Amino acid sequence: MKMLAIYPGSFDPPTLGHLDVIERATHLFDRLIIAVGVNSAKRPLLTTDQRIEALRLSTAHFPNVEVASFSGLLVEYARSVGAKSIVRGLRATADFEYEFQMAMINRRLASDVDSVFLMTRWDYSYLSSSMVREVAVLGGDYSTLVPEPVVPIVAAALEARDHIPAMETSQHG
Ligand code: PNS
Repeated sequence: MKMLAIYPGSFDPPTLGHLDVIERATHLFDRLIIAVGVNSAKRPLLTTDQRIEALRLSTAHFPNVEVASFSGLLVEYARSVGAKSIVRGLRATADFEYEFQMAMINRRLASDVDSVFLMTRWDYSYLSSSMVREVAVLGGDYSTLVPEPVVPIVAAALEARDHIPAMETSQHG
């Protein structure tokens, strides 16, 4: 039987930590679908399409990885693709509380779907998308924190973002 797992997340932007978890998961499962969560309440730095593109380019060397997006409940998406496993990365103990809660809610909603936690590489244990976003927005060098193909995508998103306040300013004088 082929083992399929999904690896859901916001991936805004994907980091080297995410890529490390993806690589580990490719050794454990026959097929891995990276599922970009679309949350209309959040205002992301990267659009859903940019996140998908960034993940596709960064994982092109893994033949058993696909990238998709989902909205609504994660377990419903897992069911719709026939996945019984949800992969999540764990960096530090700080992640545990949130991940535990999410795994328990998901189990209550779908008892046949299990969460599988993979530890990220020690040297990526401090990395998070929100830290990368902050460094990037404040003009710092984020190029060693994300996979190479993600760098120009973040740069383009920053440029697009920089144009928005300028337009607002001109509208209000
Ligand atoms: O990378 P993130 O932000 O930690 O990913 C969170 C994500 C997208 C996996 C989570 O927010 C999610 O599963 N959203 C879908 C809505 C859902 O199923 N909620 C119930 C479980 S908490």
